Amino acid sequence: MPVTIVVGAQWGDEGKGRVVDDLASRANVVARYNGGDNAGHTIVAEGHTLGLHLVPSGILNPQAICLIGGGTVINPLRLLEEIATLRNAGIEVTPERLKIAAGAHLILPTHRALDGAQELTLGEQAIGTTARGIGPTYADKARRVGLRAALLRDPDTFATQARTLIITHNERLINLFQLKPQLVGPQVEQLRDAAAQLTPYLVDGAAFITDALAENKEILCEGAQGTLLDLDHGTYPFVTSSSPIAGGALTGLGFGPKEVTRVVGVAKAYTTRVGAGAFPTELLDATGDRLRDIGHEYGVTTGRPRRCGWLDTVILRYAAQVNGLTEIALTKLDVLSGIPTLKIAVAYEINGAITPHFPAEWGNEIIAAAKPIYEELPGWEADLRAIRRREDLPTEAQAYVARIEALVATRISFIGVGPERESLILP
Ligand code: GDP
Ligand code: IMO
Ligand code: MG
Repeated sequence: MPVTIVVGAQWGDEGKGRVVDDLASRANVVARYNGGDNAGHTIVAEGHTLGLHLVPSGILNPQAICLIGGGTVINPLRLLEEIATLRNAGIEVTPERLKIAAGAHLILPTHRALDGAQELTLGEQAIGTTARGIGPTYADKARRVGLRAALLRDPDTFATQARTLIITHNERLINLFQLKPQLVGPQVEQLRDAAAQLTPYLVDGAAFITDALAENKEILCEGAQGTLLDLDHGTYPFVTSSSPIAGGALTGLGFGPKEVTRVVGVAKAYTTRVGAGAFPTELLDATGDRLRDIGHEYGVTTGRPRRCGWLDTVILRYAAQVNGLTEIALTKLDVLSGIPTLKIAVAYEINGAITPHFPAEWGNEIIAAAKPIYEELPGWEADLRAIRRREDLPTEAQAYVARIEALVATRISFIGVGPERESLILP
């Protein structure tokens, strides 16, 4: 039963890294299918605290081969830095263990400059991107002028094409944004050098997956970001530029839907968001601050404080539907200890009408107008971090988990009670 997809069920940072790390112990292949180094996936295990950006979260499981899939966007310079950081931590990262799909698109320094320039122009309407060049790189892919990782095989041709694209980007920086151009020569030389270092990692990503399926290997697909940041199904325009939903694994890696047996939606026991855009259950009070402090809710990639709020099952039902979730991995239940009364959003009131649906397609203004209808549940005092069986949780915590299962009509198969690898409750 070969393919499992792990997808973020909220606005990212749900704890996908640690869930993938756990599932990867039984996987042969762990493949990232979307996004770039805008992602920050944390694993706390074997004495390491890793903040991974592009390298799949299977890297600590030596039997798993990690693939950075064709649906991703790769900054060659940042990837080399990440590989070096992992090696310095004593983790084996070789072309045998890490593969780069030739179809992935490449982020150039000028993509990053354009990302910043667009945000500056948007002013108060800025998306709050991670400034990693993600949007401009996917835009070049859609405009059919992007550079693919396959080019890294031939550093000279890559350097020539990178130079041409950088010059085009510079013209936009000057003419559209009245900004200074980026230096061309030194950037191109750095990229040529990076290409030579990355060549050994290249594979045909779809062929790699095809062969793995033919050998009945266990394939674990790792999503970045989350359902509500999806370009098509998220809170547009406050989204990323890729497809974090489960369907993105199919297009991002190159296999058909019949191969998929499990779709695990990772959700925090509350909700967070980084960047701008509507957030119906956001708490701008002491409880929000408490969640941020106790949950250490600061971005792995940018260090920005995350916005925090109550759990929203309108969102989780939506995630269950657009991803076809077979189960939920609920993380950070431990962070809720000590809050006397917990609230869960069960529906929205929008302009006087009550709806159980998340109005993603109606856009940000309608989502911003949604007033959550809450159900209240009693909290618990006990520290959950040492608990390893669901029946040993305080009865209030058991009731909280069971209520989510009922409201989302999806089973919770994994409960996180701390960041460490072993701090989890399995069925
Ligand atoms: P990702 O982007 O979805 O992989 O999530 P991040 O790594 O950006 O953010 C999740 C944060 O929560 C990380 O700091 C994790 O170490 C931490 N974390 C994950 N699961 C748990 C949990 O069950 N309890 C606690 N307290 N922290 C957790
Ligand atoms: P992981 O994989 C949370 C957000 C940014 C911004 C929007 C667009 O760690 O869950 P982008 O740089 O992608 O163009 O920014 O998306 N964002 C994330 N938020 N977790 C992430 O990744 C994110 N990646 C992007 O904050 O609002
Ligand atoms: Mg993250």
